[in-house]
Amino acid sequence: MPVIAVLNPKGGSGKTTVAINLAHALALDGDKVLLVDSDLQGSARD
Ligand SMILES: Nc1ncnc2c1ncn2[C@@H]1O[C@H](COP(=O)(O)OP(=O)(O)O)[C@@H](O)[C@H]1O
Ligand SMILES: [Mg+2]
Repeated sequence: MPVIAVLNPKGGSGKTTVAINLAHALALDGDKVLLVDSDLQGSARD
């Protein structure tokens, strides 16, 4: 099971945006995807 982490200590650098779009693209490709947002802000969950 491959794990892709989108990491950067700087807020607002686009981590959530990249992670959501990457997850969506992989899902459209037929991959089973679990998107986990470990930031307290939880923007991807919203
Ligand atoms: N490639 C991009 N070009 C323009 N705006 C972007 C890009 N990636 C993210 N943003 C915008 O920048 C802001 C912060 O992005 P976000 O993904 O929430 O960052 P992070 O998760 O690192 O805090 C959001 O308003 C988002 O829409
Ligand atoms: Mg974020």
